[in-house]
Amino acid sequence: MDTTALREQWLHAIEKAADAAALAELDTRLFGAKGEVVELVRSVTTLPKEERPAFGKAANVLKQEVEQALAARREAFAAAALAQELAASDFDPTEPGPRVRRGALHPITIVQNELVDLFTSMGFQWQDGPEVESEYFNFDALNIPGDHPARESQDTFWLREQSGLGRNLLRTHTSPVQVRTMQRLTKHGFQPPLKVIVPGRCFRSETVDKSHEHTFYQMEGLVVDRVQRDGHGGDRGVSIANLIHTMKTCLRVILERDVQVRLRPGFFPFVEPGFELDVNCPFCSGKGCSVCKQSGWIEILPCGMVHPNVLRQGGIDPEEHTGFAFGMGLQRVVMLRYGIDDIRQFMGGDQRFLQQFPEVPR
Ligand code: DAH
Repeated sequence: MDTTALREQWLHAIEKAADAAALAELDTRLFGAKGEVVELVRSVTTLPKEERPAFGKAANVLKQEVEQALAARREAFAAAALAQELAASDFDPTEPGPRVRRGALHPITIVQNELVDLFTSMGFQWQDGPEVESEYFNFDALNIPGDHPARESQDTFWLREQSGLGRNLLRTHTSPVQVRTMQRLTKHGFQPPLKVIVPGRCFRSETVDKSHEHTFYQMEGLVVDRVQRDGHGGDRGVSIANLIHTMKTCLRVILERDVQVRLRPGFFPFVEPGFELDVNCPFCSGKGCSVCKQSGWIEILPCGMVHPNVLRQGGIDPEEHTGFAFGMGLQRVVMLRYGIDDIRQFMGGDQRFLQQFPEVPR
């Protein structure tokens, strides 16, 4: 049987289909339940045996050809429809899409990362401690007696639970990790050297204003080592000189400039002597401005030599060891570094504030 005529007829019909609907109708006519192409292929069974192979093959080739022609025409209609739609609308497929910000690190995180990087390069280890702390570690172990004003309820968030270590509270500073760290070391019979930093979140029941927050970040530092004695009174141990050098290095890196520092006496029960370390004002280079209240200096870092009682609480013999400690208020450093004048920005969650910091790189 010759299929040439059918082929001509079908391909012509596909070519002539006026639109997608007409083409769909044609599709049913050819390939539906009793479709013409289907019937042609099926008719092979009515032929004498010897004619079947040749016919079957020809019918199948034709079927495929018609299917392809249908599909090609269908696509052409679809493309034309889309082009028409695009022409009618003002959608511009070449216009760049909205820019998606990847987000930025919080400024406290940026500065904390830099500090951790610096201190670990100096051989310090990063220690962590709990935010829910006991009265013992937060106060007693740090030589803060029971009647110290810092314990009063207007400063400390007290919790209901209690343990063998006293009432629970939200830690008011990172200093409790000093004693935790020393105990962790000495528990198994080890003794210093010891160099740790403790970045962490602290809480105080403060009235919030431009420079006070109930939730804030500190970074504690603690260095303790054995005193080396030469037998002639030439003792060498961790000293105030070491403290000053470490603090100067730290401020130089974080404030990205050369700094001058000065020490004033400061009272903290867990250090003796205790200091307030000031840095020369970055805004007026020491000439006096509103930020430094015309003094040329900015109070930045409380610190001191670890009190013997605190070493004892940590299981360390104060006759044989000395150490220094510091407690940096991270917000304060970040405010100086970026010129931020309101501490409430940090926790406020205002996107316009946060978007000023560099995007996290890909
Ligand atoms: N923990 C003190 C506070 O939050 C800060 C402080 C002062 C920490 C002196 C220290 C230090 O390690 O030596 O107010």
